[in-house]
Amino acid sequence: MEYSLLGSEPALTSRLIEVRRSLHREPELSNEEIKTTEKLRKWLTEADIRILDLPLKTGLIAEIGTGNKPVVVIRCDIDALPIQEQTGLPFASEIPGKMHACGHDFHTATILGAAYILKSRESELPGTVRVLFQPAEETGHGAKEVLASGGLADVSAIFGLHNNPDLPVGTFGTRTGALTAGVDRFEISIRGTGAHAATPERGEDTIVTAAQIIMALQTIASRVTSAIEPVVLSVTRIQAGNTWNVLPELVEMEGTVRTYNEEIRRMIPEKIRQIIRGVGASAGVKAELLWTPGPPATINDAEWADFTKETAAGAGYEVVDLAPQMGGEDFALYLQTIPGAFVNIGTASRFALHHPQFTVDEAALVPAARYFALLAEAALTKLVLKPAFRYEDRNERNNNL
Ligand code: NI
Repeated sequence: MEYSLLGSEPALTSRLIEVRRSLHREPELSNEEIKTTEKLRKWLTEADIRILDLPLKTGLIAEIGTGNKPVVVIRCDIDALPIQEQTGLPFASEIPGKMHACGHDFHTATILGAAYILKSRESELPGTVRVLFQPAEETGHGAKEVLASGGLADVSAIFGLHNNPDLPVGTFGTRTGALTAGVDRFEISIRGTGAHAATPERGEDTIVTAAQIIMALQTIASRVTSAIEPVVLSVTRIQAGNTWNVLPELVEMEGTVRTYNEEIRRMIPEKIRQIIRGVGASAGVKAELLWTPGPPATINDAEWADFTKETAAGAGYEVVDLAPQMGGEDFALYLQTIPGAFVNIGTASRFALHHPQFTVDEAALVPAARYFALLAEAALTKLVLKPAFRYEDRNERNNNL
């Protein structure tokens, strides 16, 4: 391969910085990425890269190579967040209350750059690379829409990225197995009979019951699941009543559960129901659960995760093993059916993801684009040389989580 992190290419550098800043100025929220998609169409069409005709309202998939198998996908997300930017950068968001505070502008420019590089090598590619510009990652719906669009049929391997503000530029991170957690949301309502605060015996106290439920829910992580299986349950909102001397008839609360193990994840809603019904019954109130599942844990395929690391080391990156994170990422949905790996690229920000002063070091752009082009082409070569590589027993893999 002739790619290298060394050696500058001023044209590519200025192009990708221009692309990233254009996206940064005009951030769009999940499922509203109309202008972003238009820009991508224009940039890809100018480079003579074919765009697939798919039923996606926003986001798109384009294709480079033979048009035949094997097919490898490199994916980025394109949506922004409802945050007021405070970076003071000359190319800061021009849209009030919206900001690329998670660096998805960086991801998009990276994958576009990889597409440009791959296009310049199209005749050499031993298969097809699809570049996936996914909408709506922040709301956790985008991957589902992409899968439903049919744009990922016949895919042998998929790779995705997130910038990592804690890693220096030139550093690459990933891990085998679980990288990000399964993310679920719950809402609980507790309904009883309201009463005067002076005479609680005339009603059922939903507030005291809510307090007992909140405490009891914490026993799931400490008493119900194994100490070596991470579970976080956080109650994040609680609302009830509107004055000082009335016991309210309704308490509403919500929160999130984060897990890695799919079996544990599936048993938690029933456990919550048992607790809220049991505690509720003892107080004579009715407690109900609304459970909204989000993306599962991101489980990197062992062989492909190793492959991303070897490729990164070969391209001149410093490679580090990441610790598992309790945050979520909807790339996980692809990995449920397609082998692959999710990786981090160091972008050295002083501020954390989703912070109003978050930014990325643009020096990371071209190396990241080169890396993803190299990874996609190397993965195709690997699949051609060893077509059985991807057909491992996925059930066995899932049992080993
Ligand atoms: Ni993000």
